[in-house]
Amino acid sequence: IKTGFIFDLDGVIVDTAKYHYLAWRKLANELGFEFTHEQNELFKGVSRKRCLEILLAIGKIKATQEQFDSWMIEKNVDYLAYIENMDVSEILPDVPKVLDYLKHKNIPIALGSASKNAKPILEKVNLLSYFDVLVDGNNVTKAKPDPEVFLIAAKQLGVKPCNCIVFEDAVAGIEAANAAGMISIGIGDAEILNQAKYNFKDFTEISLSFLDTLIIE
Ligand code: BG6
Ligand code: MG
Repeated sequence: IKTGFIFDLDGVIVDTAKYHYLAWRKLANELGFEFTHEQNELFKGVSRKRCLEILLAIGKIKATQEQFDSWMIEKNVDYLAYIENMDVSEILPDVPKVLDYLKHKNIPIALGSASKNAKPILEKVNLLSYFDVLVDGNNVTKAKPDPEVFLIAAKQLGVKPCNCIVFEDAVAGIEAANAAGMISIGIGDAEILNQAKYNFKDFTEISLSFLDTLIIE
């Protein structure tokens, strides 16, 4: 088999975007301003550091390096508290169906995430064993939309980028997959993710026969 599948984590495998949102909103409120769901769209797929830069721009706040570093830590401490009790019930619909099918066909599977919390989350929801390769926020120097995260994943999978399929819920992630020369599949709003090669609302819309069309034996 020459094909590899790469999954984003937040918003594709688990619905953690809501917890990221709560943690950023808490910080924004402490700093004296509102942070809306619409603004949170800009944070999807984006590194923690870049998210804080955007948040401070929204609040028109100038931070010293020391403040910046302590707010990065504070946001993550709050986020970790929100996800502490996460369990299998937070896996998004039909994700196990797709992972099981790929595993049973012996197709290599990678995680390609911007998050530094990826591994503990996969452990909490009992999906870690599906992944042959994990590339996350701890392994990259350039954040999505840079293709680095997916190119490292392809290399570790031993699959050519053009034979990799990427599932993404973020605009920055679709751009990264396209820049890597991979087949991008948008999970979520097709209008927002209009740069993707294929679009699905969620994995319940993805049939096993569609997956077969992507696999080169
Ligand atoms: C991405 C999320 O997967 O990971 C972003 O979509 C988040 O919202 C980024 O900022 C970094 O995550 P973490 O867990 O390292 O703060
Ligand atoms: Mg995502």
